[in-house]
Amino acid sequence: ERLALWGGRFGSGPAAALAALSVSTHFDWRLAQYDIRGSRAHADVLHAAGLLSDDELAGMQDALQRLAADVASGAFVAAPDDEDVHTALERGLIERAGTELGGKLRAGRSRNDQIATLIRLFVRDQARSIGAQVLDLVDVLQARAVEVHGAPMPGRTHLQHAQPVLLSHHLLAHAWPLLRDVERLRDLDRRAAISPYGSGALAGSSLGLDPEAVASSLGFDGSVWNSIDGTASRDIAAEFSFVLAMIAIDLSRLAEEIILWNTKEFSFITLDDSYSTGSSIMPQKKNPDIAELARGKAGRVIGDHVGLLSTLKALPLAYNRDLQEDKEPIFDQVDSLDLVLPAFTGMVATLTFHLEEMAARAPQGFSLATDIAEHLVRNGVPFRDAHEVSGACVRVAEEQGKELVDITDAEFAEISPHLDPSVRGVLSVEGSIASRDAKGGTAPSRVAEQEDAVRLVAGD
Ligand code: ARG
Repeated sequence: ERLALWGGRFGSGPAAALAALSVSTHFDWRLAQYDIRGSRAHADVLHAAGLLSDDELAGMQDALQRLAADVASGAFVAAPDDEDVHTALERGLIERAGTELGGKLRAGRSRNDQIATLIRLFVRDQARSIGAQVLDLVDVLQARAVEVHGAPMPGRTHLQHAQPVLLSHHLLAHAWPLLRDVERLRDLDRRAAISPYGSGALAGSSLGLDPEAVASSLGFDGSVWNSIDGTASRDIAAEFSFVLAMIAIDLSRLAEEIILWNTKEFSFITLDDSYSTGSSIMPQKKNPDIAELARGKAGRVIGDHVGLLSTLKALPLAYNRDLQEDKEPIFDQVDSLDLVLPAFTGMVATLTFHLEEMAARAPQGFSLATDIAEHLVRNGVPFRDAHEVSGACVRVAEEQGKELVDITDAEFAEISPHLDPSVRGVLSVEGSIASRDAKGGTAPSRVAEQEDAVRLVAGD
Protein backbone atom coordinates (compact mmCIF):
# COMPACT_ATOMS: atom_id res chain seq x y z
CA GLU A 1 0.00 0.00 0.00
CA ARG A 2 1.22 3.43 -0.94
CA LEU A 3 2.26 5.57 2.03
CA ALA A 4 1.60 9.14 0.97
CA LEU A 5 1.61 12.06 3.40
CA TRP A 6 -1.82 13.04 2.19
CA GLY A 7 -4.75 11.17 0.70
CA GLY A 8 -7.47 11.23 3.36
CA ARG A 9 -9.76 13.38 1.26
CA PHE A 10 -8.89 11.77 -2.06
CA GLY A 11 -10.96 9.07 -3.67
CA SER A 12 -8.18 7.83 -5.91
CA GLY A 13 -4.40 7.81 -5.98
CA PRO A 14 -2.46 10.19 -8.18
CA ALA A 15 -2.35 9.65 -11.92
CA ALA A 16 0.95 8.25 -13.13
CA ALA A 17 1.68 11.45 -15.03
CA LEU A 18 1.14 13.53 -11.90
CA ALA A 19 3.36 11.25 -9.83
CA ALA A 20 6.09 11.48 -12.45
CA LEU A 21 5.93 15.27 -12.48
CA SER A 22 5.66 15.60 -8.74
CA VAL A 23 8.43 13.29 -7.59
CA SER A 24 11.58 14.96 -6.32
CA THR A 25 13.47 12.21 -4.51
CA HIS A 26 15.96 11.92 -7.37
CA PHE A 27 17.36 15.27 -6.26
CA ASP A 28 16.08 16.13 -2.78
CA TRP A 29 17.36 12.86 -1.33
CA ARG A 30 20.56 14.78 -0.98
CA LEU A 31 18.91 16.59 1.96
CA ALA A 32 17.95 13.38 3.78
CA GLN A 33 20.38 13.72 6.67
CA TYR A 34 19.31 17.33 7.24
CA ASP A 35 15.68 16.17 7.27
CA ILE A 36 16.47 13.58 9.96
CA ARG A 37 18.36 16.17 12.03
CA GLY A 38 15.27 18.39 11.79
CA SER A 39 13.08 15.46 12.83
CA ARG A 40 15.23 14.72 15.87
CA ALA A 41 15.01 18.35 16.99
CA HIS A 42 11.27 18.32 16.32
CA ALA A 43 10.81 15.17 18.44
CA ASP A 44 12.48 17.00 21.33
CA VAL A 45 10.08 19.95 21.14
CA LEU A 46 7.09 17.61 20.85
CA HIS A 47 8.33 15.99 24.05
CA ALA A 48 8.89 19.36 25.73
CA ALA A 49 5.31 20.30 24.83
CA GLY A 50 4.01 17.11 26.42
CA LEU A 51 3.02 15.52 23.11
CA LEU A 52 5.51 12.65 23.42
CA SER A 53 6.13 10.72 26.65
CA ASP A 54 9.66 10.00 27.81
CA ASP A 55 9.41 6.48 26.42
CA GLU A 56 8.00 7.68 23.15
CA LEU A 57 10.79 10.23 22.78
CA ALA A 58 13.40 7.55 23.45
CA GLY A 59 11.77 5.22 20.92
CA MET A 60 11.50 8.00 18.36
CA GLN A 61 15.11 9.10 18.76
CA ASP A 62 16.30 5.52 18.53
CA ALA A 63 14.32 4.92 15.35
CA LEU A 64 15.56 8.18 13.81
CA GLN A 65 19.14 7.32 14.69
CA ARG A 66 18.80 3.92 13.04
CA LEU A 67 17.16 5.56 10.05
CA ALA A 68 20.07 8.01 9.75
CA ALA A 69 22.53 5.11 9.84
CA ASP A 70 20.57 3.22 7.20
CA VAL A 71 20.42 6.29 4.97
CA ALA A 72 24.17 6.76 5.40
CA SER A 73 24.93 3.14 4.54
CA GLY A 74 22.50 3.05 1.66
CA ALA A 75 20.39 0.36 3.35
CA PHE A 76 17.42 2.72 3.22
CA VAL A 77 16.68 4.60 0.00
CA ALA A 78 13.68 6.38 -1.47
CA ALA A 79 11.16 4.12 -3.19
CA PRO A 80 9.58 4.96 -6.56
CA ASP A 81 6.29 5.72 -4.78
CA ASP A 82 7.78 8.25 -2.38
CA GLU A 83 6.87 11.76 -3.49
CA ASP A 84 9.79 13.51 -1.85
CA VAL A 85 12.51 13.13 0.73
CA HIS A 86 10.11 13.92 3.59
CA THR A 87 7.63 11.26 2.45
CA ALA A 88 10.35 8.66 2.07
CA LEU A 89 11.81 9.35 5.49
CA GLU A 90 8.42 9.19 7.20
CA ARG A 91 7.98 5.77 5.62
CA GLY A 92 11.41 4.81 6.91
CA LEU A 93 10.54 6.06 10.38
CA ILE A 94 7.27 4.15 10.47
CA GLU A 95 9.05 0.99 9.32
CA ARG A 96 11.37 1.37 12.33
CA ALA A 97 9.15 2.88 15.03
CA GLY A 98 5.79 1.41 14.07
CA THR A 99 2.76 3.23 12.67
CA GLU A 100 1.53 4.49 16.02
CA LEU A 101 4.72 6.15 17.25
CA GLY A 102 6.09 7.01 13.79
CA GLY A 103 2.80 8.69 12.92
CA LYS A 104 3.18 11.16 15.79
CA LEU A 105 6.22 13.00 14.50
CA ARG A 106 4.42 14.96 11.84
CA ALA A 107 2.36 16.96 14.36
CA GLY A 108 2.97 20.68 14.24
CA ARG A 109 5.18 20.77 11.21
CA SER A 110 4.75 20.84 7.46
CA ARG A 111 6.95 19.95 4.56
CA ASN A 112 6.87 23.67 3.82
CA ASP A 113 8.78 24.68 6.94
CA GLN A 114 10.88 21.53 6.73
CA ILE A 115 12.13 22.16 3.21
CA ALA A 116 12.73 25.86 3.86
CA THR A 117 14.91 24.87 6.81
CA LEU A 118 16.73 22.12 4.93
CA ILE A 119 17.70 24.49 2.14
CA ARG A 120 19.25 26.87 4.65
CA LEU A 121 21.17 24.07 6.34
CA PHE A 122 22.47 23.00 2.96
CA VAL A 123 23.39 26.55 1.96
CA ARG A 124 25.25 27.09 5.22
CA ASP A 125 27.33 23.91 4.89
CA GLN A 126 28.10 24.54 1.24
CA ALA A 127 28.99 28.17 1.82
CA ARG A 128 31.72 26.92 4.13
CA SER A 129 33.00 24.21 1.86
CA ILE A 130 32.98 26.27 -1.34
CA GLY A 131 34.53 29.18 0.58
CA ALA A 132 37.37 26.94 1.76
CA GLN A 133 38.05 25.81 -1.80
CA VAL A 134 38.08 29.38 -3.05
CA LEU A 135 40.57 30.22 -0.32
CA ASP A 136 42.80 27.38 -1.51
CA LEU A 137 42.95 29.08 -4.89
CA VAL A 138 43.64 32.45 -3.29
CA ASP A 139 46.49 30.87 -1.32
CA VAL A 140 47.99 29.52 -4.52
CA LEU A 141 47.66 32.87 -6.30
CA GLN A 142 49.32 34.55 -3.32
CA ALA A 143 52.16 32.02 -3.20
CA ARG A 144 52.77 32.35 -6.93
CA ALA A 145 52.76 36.14 -6.61
CA VAL A 146 55.44 35.94 -3.93
CA GLU A 147 57.42 33.49 -6.04
CA VAL A 148 57.56 35.79 -9.08
CA HIS A 149 57.83 38.99 -7.07
CA GLY A 150 59.48 41.74 -9.11
CA ALA A 151 58.86 40.15 -12.53
CA PRO A 152 57.27 42.60 -15.00
CA MET A 153 54.64 41.95 -17.62
CA PRO A 154 52.67 44.06 -20.07
CA GLY A 155 49.58 45.36 -18.31
CA ARG A 156 46.63 45.68 -20.66
CA THR A 157 43.45 47.65 -21.15
CA HIS A 158 41.18 46.78 -24.07
CA LEU A 159 43.55 43.79 -24.37
CA GLN A 160 46.12 46.25 -25.78
CA HIS A 161 49.44 47.00 -24.15
CA ALA A 162 48.80 49.77 -21.64
CA GLN A 163 51.46 50.10 -18.93
CA PRO A 164 53.97 47.66 -17.47
CA VAL A 165 52.91 46.03 -14.22
CA LEU A 166 54.27 43.33 -11.98
CA LEU A 167 53.00 39.84 -12.71
CA SER A 168 52.42 39.54 -8.94
CA HIS A 169 50.18 42.59 -9.07
CA HIS A 170 48.17 41.04 -11.88
CA LEU A 171 47.84 37.68 -10.11
CA LEU A 172 46.65 39.37 -6.93
CA ALA A 173 44.10 41.32 -8.96
CA HIS A 174 42.45 37.93 -9.44
CA ALA A 175 42.77 37.10 -5.73
CA TRP A 176 40.87 40.12 -4.38
CA PRO A 177 37.52 39.43 -6.09
CA LEU A 178 37.73 35.83 -4.89
CA LEU A 179 38.37 37.08 -1.35
CA ARG A 180 35.30 39.27 -1.63
CA ASP A 181 33.31 36.23 -2.78
CA VAL A 182 34.40 34.39 0.36
CA GLU A 183 33.39 37.43 2.39
CA ARG A 184 30.00 37.38 0.65
CA LEU A 185 29.57 33.73 1.61
CA ARG A 186 30.37 34.51 5.24
CA ASP A 187 28.09 37.49 5.22
CA LEU A 188 25.11 35.65 3.76
CA ASP A 189 25.60 32.92 6.34
CA ARG A 190 24.49 35.41 9.00
CA ARG A 191 21.17 35.79 7.19
CA ALA A 192 20.92 32.05 6.52
CA ALA A 193 21.37 31.36 10.24
CA ILE A 194 17.66 31.91 10.99
CA SER A 195 15.47 28.82 11.13
CA PRO A 196 12.03 28.58 9.48
CA TYR A 197 11.19 25.39 11.45
CA GLY A 198 7.95 25.84 13.35
CA SER A 199 6.37 27.99 10.65
CA GLY A 200 4.18 25.03 9.75
CA ALA A 201 2.46 25.26 6.39
CA LEU A 202 2.43 29.07 6.60
CA ALA A 203 0.69 30.25 9.78
CA GLY A 204 2.84 28.82 12.57
CA SER A 205 2.24 26.00 15.00
CA SER A 206 -0.66 25.76 17.46
CA LEU A 207 0.75 22.94 19.54
CA GLY A 208 2.97 24.91 21.91
CA LEU A 209 6.16 23.93 20.11
CA ASP A 210 9.19 26.16 20.56
CA PRO A 211 10.76 27.22 17.24
CA GLU A 212 13.74 28.72 19.06
CA ALA A 213 14.57 25.36 20.62
CA VAL A 214 14.56 23.63 17.22
CA ALA A 215 16.61 26.49 15.79
CA SER A 216 19.32 26.23 18.40
CA SER A 217 19.53 22.46 18.22
CA LEU A 218 20.05 22.76 14.45
CA GLY A 219 22.86 25.28 14.95
CA PHE A 220 20.86 28.36 13.91
CA ASP A 221 21.18 31.69 15.69
CA GLY A 222 17.41 32.00 16.03
CA SER A 223 14.07 31.37 14.36
CA VAL A 224 12.07 33.51 11.91
CA TRP A 225 9.79 36.31 13.08
CA ASN A 226 7.22 35.58 10.39
CA SER A 227 6.01 32.10 9.48
CA ILE A 228 4.76 33.25 6.06
CA ASP A 229 8.18 34.68 5.29
CA GLY A 230 9.79 31.56 6.72
CA THR A 231 8.03 29.23 4.31
CA ALA A 232 7.66 31.43 1.22
CA SER A 233 10.98 33.25 0.88
CA ARG A 234 13.96 31.94 -1.03
CA ASP A 235 16.04 35.12 -1.22
CA ILE A 236 18.72 33.44 0.83
CA ALA A 237 18.96 30.63 -1.67
CA ALA A 238 19.05 33.23 -4.46
CA GLU A 239 21.80 35.18 -2.73
CA PHE A 240 23.90 32.05 -2.32
CA SER A 241 23.24 31.23 -5.95
CA PHE A 242 24.44 34.70 -6.97
CA VAL A 243 27.69 34.32 -5.09
CA LEU A 244 28.34 30.96 -6.73
CA ALA A 245 27.67 32.54 -10.11
CA MET A 246 30.07 35.36 -9.24
CA ILE A 247 32.76 32.86 -8.25
CA ALA A 248 32.30 31.08 -11.58
CA ILE A 249 32.55 34.42 -13.39
CA ASP A 250 35.68 35.40 -11.48
CA LEU A 251 37.25 32.05 -12.37
CA SER A 252 36.24 32.44 -15.99
CA ARG A 253 38.14 35.72 -16.29
CA LEU A 254 41.39 34.15 -15.11
CA ALA A 255 40.60 31.11 -17.26
CA GLU A 256 40.36 33.29 -20.35
CA GLU A 257 43.76 34.82 -19.64
CA ILE A 258 45.33 31.44 -19.03
CA ILE A 259 43.99 30.27 -22.37
CA LEU A 260 45.49 33.33 -24.08
CA TRP A 261 48.79 33.17 -22.20
CA ASN A 262 49.11 29.52 -23.16
CA THR A 263 49.01 30.26 -26.92
CA LYS A 264 52.12 30.23 -29.11
CA GLU A 265 51.59 33.94 -29.75
CA PHE A 266 51.74 34.87 -26.07
CA SER A 267 53.99 32.09 -24.77
CA PHE A 268 53.64 33.50 -21.26
CA ILE A 269 52.98 30.17 -19.60
CA THR A 270 53.23 26.43 -20.04
CA LEU A 271 50.67 24.23 -18.36
CA ASP A 272 51.83 21.21 -16.45
CA ASP A 273 51.23 17.91 -18.27
CA SER A 274 49.02 16.62 -15.49
CA TYR A 275 46.71 19.61 -15.84
CA SER A 276 46.42 19.68 -19.62
CA THR A 277 44.89 17.41 -22.23
CA GLY A 278 45.90 16.06 -25.63
CA SER A 279 44.21 15.76 -28.98
CA SER A 280 42.97 12.48 -30.44
CA ILE A 281 44.32 13.39 -33.88
CA MET A 282 47.06 16.03 -33.45
CA PRO A 283 49.90 14.43 -31.50
CA GLN A 284 51.59 17.74 -30.72
CA LYS A 285 48.58 19.27 -28.95
CA LYS A 286 48.48 20.21 -25.30
CA ASN A 287 45.22 21.90 -24.53
CA PRO A 288 44.06 24.10 -21.63
CA ASP A 289 40.84 22.13 -21.06
CA ILE A 290 40.58 22.96 -17.37
CA ALA A 291 40.49 26.67 -18.13
CA GLU A 292 38.02 26.09 -20.96
CA LEU A 293 35.71 24.00 -18.80
CA ALA A 294 35.90 26.62 -16.05
CA ARG A 295 34.95 29.24 -18.63
CA GLY A 296 32.21 27.03 -20.08
CA LYS A 297 30.72 26.01 -16.75
CA ALA A 298 30.45 29.67 -15.80
CA GLY A 299 27.70 29.90 -18.43
CA ARG A 300 25.86 26.99 -16.89
CA VAL A 301 26.24 28.29 -13.34
CA ILE A 302 24.96 31.72 -14.39
CA GLY A 303 22.04 29.95 -16.07
CA ASP A 304 21.21 28.16 -12.82
CA HIS A 305 21.11 31.50 -11.04
CA VAL A 306 18.91 33.15 -13.64
CA GLY A 307 16.62 30.11 -13.63
CA LEU A 308 16.17 30.35 -9.87
CA LEU A 309 15.44 34.08 -9.97
CA SER A 310 12.91 33.47 -12.73
CA THR A 311 11.15 30.84 -10.62
CA LEU A 312 10.83 33.28 -7.74
CA LYS A 313 9.61 36.22 -9.75
CA ALA A 314 5.97 37.19 -9.01
CA LEU A 315 5.29 34.15 -6.82
CA PRO A 316 2.44 35.05 -4.47
CA LEU A 317 2.74 34.24 -0.76
CA ALA A 318 3.00 31.81 0.81
CA TYR A 319 4.28 28.40 -0.31
CA ASN A 320 3.74 27.38 -3.93
CA ARG A 321 4.92 24.15 -5.45
CA ASP A 322 7.06 26.22 -7.84
CA LEU A 323 9.45 26.46 -4.91
CA GLN A 324 10.40 22.83 -5.37
CA GLU A 325 12.40 24.15 -8.32
CA ASP A 326 14.79 25.94 -5.97
CA LYS A 327 16.97 22.91 -5.33
CA GLU A 328 18.33 21.62 -8.62
CA PRO A 329 19.92 24.90 -9.76
CA ILE A 330 21.75 25.28 -6.47
CA PHE A 331 22.84 21.65 -6.41
CA ASP A 332 24.11 22.00 -9.96
CA GLN A 333 26.06 25.13 -9.08
CA VAL A 334 27.65 23.47 -6.07
CA ASP A 335 28.50 20.33 -8.05
CA SER A 336 29.99 22.37 -10.89
CA LEU A 337 32.21 24.41 -8.59
CA ASP A 338 33.20 21.31 -6.61
CA LEU A 339 34.57 19.94 -9.88
CA VAL A 340 36.10 23.12 -11.22
CA LEU A 341 37.81 24.56 -8.15
CA PRO A 342 40.29 21.76 -7.29
CA ALA A 343 41.30 21.32 -10.92
CA PHE A 344 41.67 25.05 -11.41
CA THR A 345 43.75 25.48 -8.28
CA GLY A 346 46.00 22.60 -9.32
CA MET A 347 46.44 24.11 -12.76
CA VAL A 348 47.46 27.51 -11.35
CA ALA A 349 49.77 25.90 -8.78
CA THR A 350 51.68 23.89 -11.38
CA LEU A 351 51.88 26.10 -14.47
CA THR A 352 55.24 27.56 -15.48
CA PHE A 353 55.58 31.31 -16.05
CA HIS A 354 57.95 32.40 -18.82
CA LEU A 355 59.18 35.50 -17.08
CA GLU A 356 61.73 36.50 -19.77
CA GLU A 357 58.99 36.44 -22.38
CA MET A 358 56.71 38.62 -20.28
CA ALA A 359 59.54 41.02 -19.42
CA ALA A 360 60.52 41.35 -23.09
CA ARG A 361 56.96 42.32 -24.05
CA ALA A 362 56.47 44.70 -21.12
CA PRO A 363 57.93 47.84 -22.81
CA GLN A 364 56.45 47.04 -26.24
CA GLY A 365 53.45 48.79 -27.69
CA PHE A 366 54.70 52.16 -26.41
CA SER A 367 53.63 51.21 -22.92
CA LEU A 368 55.98 53.82 -21.42
CA ALA A 369 54.27 56.77 -23.11
CA THR A 370 52.45 57.68 -19.88
CA ASP A 371 55.81 57.78 -18.11
CA ILE A 372 57.11 60.37 -20.60
CA ALA A 373 54.03 62.50 -20.00
CA GLU A 374 54.32 62.21 -16.23
CA HIS A 375 58.06 63.03 -16.41
CA LEU A 376 57.15 66.26 -18.19
CA VAL A 377 54.48 67.03 -15.58
CA ARG A 378 57.08 66.65 -12.83
CA ASN A 379 59.10 69.29 -14.78
CA GLY A 380 56.19 71.73 -14.71
CA VAL A 381 54.56 71.01 -18.09
CA PRO A 382 50.73 70.96 -17.93
CA PHE A 383 49.45 67.41 -18.42
CA ARG A 384 47.43 68.44 -21.47
CA ASP A 385 50.62 69.52 -23.27
CA ALA A 386 52.63 66.64 -21.87
CA HIS A 387 50.07 64.22 -23.29
CA GLU A 388 50.47 65.84 -26.74
CA VAL A 389 54.27 65.68 -26.58
CA SER A 390 54.28 62.08 -25.48
CA GLY A 391 51.80 61.27 -28.25
CA ALA A 392 54.18 62.87 -30.74
CA CYS A 393 56.95 60.56 -29.45
CA VAL A 394 54.70 57.56 -30.11
CA ARG A 395 54.01 58.82 -33.63
CA VAL A 396 57.74 59.19 -34.38
CA ALA A 397 58.55 55.75 -32.98
CA GLU A 398 55.67 54.16 -34.84
CA GLU A 399 56.65 55.80 -38.16
CA GLN A 400 60.17 54.47 -37.78
CA GLY A 401 59.09 51.06 -36.58
CA LYS A 402 60.91 51.33 -33.29
CA GLU A 403 60.17 51.59 -29.57
CA LEU A 404 60.17 54.80 -27.50
CA VAL A 405 63.52 53.97 -25.96
CA ASP A 406 65.08 53.95 -29.47
CA ILE A 407 64.23 57.60 -30.13
CA THR A 408 67.47 59.60 -30.33
CA ASP A 409 68.28 62.66 -28.20
CA ALA A 410 68.07 64.81 -31.31
CA GLU A 411 64.63 63.46 -32.18
CA PHE A 412 63.43 64.07 -28.61
CA ALA A 413 64.71 67.67 -28.72
CA GLU A 414 63.00 68.22 -32.03
CA ILE A 415 59.65 66.97 -30.69
CA SER A 416 59.79 69.33 -27.68
CA PRO A 417 62.36 71.49 -25.93
CA HIS A 418 61.17 69.92 -22.66
CA LEU A 419 62.46 66.53 -23.76
CA ASP A 420 66.07 66.67 -22.62
CA PRO A 421 68.06 63.43 -22.20
CA SER A 422 66.84 63.11 -18.59
CA VAL A 423 63.66 61.61 -20.07
CA ARG A 424 65.62 58.37 -20.54
CA GLY A 425 65.44 57.95 -16.77
CA VAL A 426 61.78 56.99 -17.02
CA LEU A 427 62.06 54.98 -20.21
CA SER A 428 62.58 51.68 -18.48
CA VAL A 429 60.09 49.08 -17.33
CA GLU A 430 61.72 48.93 -13.90
CA GLY A 431 61.61 52.74 -13.52
CA SER A 432 58.01 52.90 -14.67
CA ILE A 433 56.88 50.17 -12.28
CA ALA A 434 58.90 51.53 -9.36
CA SER A 435 57.40 54.99 -9.83
CA ARG A 436 53.83 53.78 -9.17
CA ASP A 437 54.42 53.58 -5.47
CA ALA A 438 51.24 54.98 -3.95
CA LYS A 439 48.99 52.53 -2.11
CA GLY A 440 47.47 50.06 -4.54
CA GLY A 441 50.14 50.70 -7.17
CA THR A 442 52.33 48.21 -8.95
CA ALA A 443 55.67 49.27 -7.39
CA PRO A 444 57.48 46.25 -5.88
CA SER A 445 57.32 47.68 -2.35
CA ARG A 446 53.54 48.18 -2.61
CA VAL A 447 52.99 44.77 -4.15
CA ALA A 448 54.99 43.21 -1.31
CA GLU A 449 52.60 44.87 1.16
CA GLN A 450 49.72 43.57 -0.90
CA GLU A 451 51.07 40.03 -0.81
CA ASP A 452 51.03 40.25 2.99
CA ALA A 453 47.57 41.80 2.98
CA VAL A 454 46.11 38.98 0.87
CA ARG A 455 47.67 36.41 3.14
CA LEU A 456 46.24 38.16 6.16
CA VAL A 457 42.72 38.53 4.74
CA ALA A 458 42.73 34.96 3.41
CA GLY A 459 43.88 33.67 6.78
CA ASP A 460 41.03 35.30 8.69
N1 ARG B 1 9.03 18.71 -2.17
C1 ARG B 1 8.56 19.96 -1.75
C2 ARG B 1 9.54 21.09 -2.10
O1 ARG B 1 10.63 20.78 -2.40
C3 ARG B 1 8.38 19.98 -0.27
C4 ARG B 1 7.23 20.83 0.17
C5 ARG B 1 5.99 20.24 -0.38
N2 ARG B 1 4.86 20.94 0.13
C6 ARG B 1 3.68 20.79 -0.39
N3 ARG B 1 2.73 21.47 0.12
N4 ARG B 1 3.45 20.04 -1.42
O2 ARG B 1 9.21 22.24 -2.10
